[in-house]
Amino acid sequence: MSLIAIIGGTGVCDTKLLQNVRQDRLPTFYGMIHYLRGTYGGKEIIFLPRHGKMHSIPPHLINYRANILGLKRLGVTAVFATTAVGTMTRERKPGDFVLPDQFIDFTNSRHESFFDGGANGVVHVDMTTPYCPKVRAALVKAGEDLGYPVHNGGTYVCTSGPRFETPAEIRMFRQLGGDVVGMTTVPEVCLAKEAEICYATVSMITNYAAGIADQPQTHAEVNERMEENSRRIQSLLMHAIELYGDDDCECRHGLAEYGGFKA
Ligand code: HPA
Repeated sequence: MSLIAIIGGTGVCDTKLLQNVRQDRLPTFYGMIHYLRGTYGGKEIIFLPRHGKMHSIPPHLINYRANILGLKRLGVTAVFATTAVGTMTRERKPGDFVLPDQFIDFTNSRHESFFDGGANGVVHVDMTTPYCPKVRAALVKAGEDLGYPVHNGGTYVCTSGPRFETPAEIRMFRQLGGDVVGMTTVPEVCLAKEAEICYATVSMITNYAAGIADQPQTHAEVNERMEENSRRIQSLLMHAIELYGDDDCECRHGLAEYGGFKA
């Protein structure tokens, strides 16, 4: 059985596109998750707003482990996530979408793993292909069909936040090969990998990163750009979900050498 989840980031706290929607919650070892369950085009969809229903949970306090474990327990096999990012190049503009294929982790003090030793053991998950190629392919095709500016590939530098970066940090991230900067893909993508769930994120560029922009950054700017584009990002997601085949995938066997992930 397959089940798709959307993890909605900034500006995607609610989706009006699902039918037969009901609210639900699920306790996990790490805490409670709150989500919506509905249908779209005959497919059952779980919708989880990463920052809470009222956007009250900042990036560094999100309970990433509860979210991913909860989705796994619900039987989710593929996650389509959204993230807001700043662009570190002028070629990619606010309003464009990016489908990252790599990340660089600059977070600190986040719980990045289900495997903290003890009863859960020690696992070193392969991260060669962090984002699921099949979920990404569906998003690429959806972008083409809809005529949206979708950049296929890019390196997402993840910071802890909640502050924005200094221009010196952005210069360093550029030199390290980063394309966009945001605060949420890590550890979400790592935990999904450990939980053997297909996962990709569509990043919406909301602003030029610090020092690339002519002006200081504000959260209002990020929110405004997301609001303007929330209809487009939702159409992109829903069309990608229509196109997505949900066949078996390597992501679902990433822990085979450890006997698989035990939810
Ligand atoms: N930096 C970090 N996170 C972000 C940004 C940014 O410029 N824009 C949206 N999320």
